[in-house]
Amino acid sequence: MILHKFEKIGDIDAETTKQSLKEIQNVCEQCRACDLFKTRSHVVFSDGAATADIMLIGEAPGADEDATGVPFVGRAGKLLNELLEASGLSRENDFYMCNTIKCRPPQNRQPSREEKAACEIYMKAQISLVKPKIILLCGSTAASSFIDEEFKITQIRGKWLNIFDGIESMVILHPSYLLRNHSEEQGSPRWFTKRDLDNVKKKLDLLRNS
Ligand code: URA
Repeated sequence: MILHKFEKIGDIDAETTKQSLKEIQNVCEQCRACDLFKTRSHVVFSDGAATADIMLIGEAPGADEDATGVPFVGRAGKLLNELLEASGLSRENDFYMCNTIKCRPPQNRQPSREEKAACEIYMKAQISLVKPKIILLCGSTAASSFIDEEFKITQIRGKWLNIFDGIESMVILHPSYLLRNHSEEQGSPRWFTKRDLDNVKKKLDLLRNS
């Protein structure tokens, strides 16, 4: 299978990275490894530059993403963009966005273990090729794809974790959850997320200057 050659990647230039990601996207767009191909309108592979410093990994495409083929374009995505901007981060310049699975589960149900397993190879290839300085796992479904132990998202969010070899990573709350929690008061989910994203901006500046 073509994808295995991307699992461990040495240093390659930006153009080769871009071409390799395109090659994988083409494979992914034909994927029938689980039943989600039957109900998808579009495979939602990624958005953003192949050379971005931050990779944000969400759960799964929703209706707007399935309709457009672009991750985080619905209401949650719009809120996410606003939150990033408020912390001095730029979706356009700083991020490569994708999801743990590339096709929308019907009725936005949680992806099954089998669906996640079938899609994992694309995710691994994306991480290996983009080689971000920072990985943000957005919400507990994305986090549970990479963290084996039981965890409470309220306890692990905002901490710098070492779950990807040498890449700083952090779990943040999912914007869909924040859409249901409007308060910005101290101690609220939105307040914590602002603090977390401010810390991401600080870390990004530090890593870029080191
Ligand atoms: N929620 C996600 O986790 N991913 C998307 O792309 C959109 C909404």
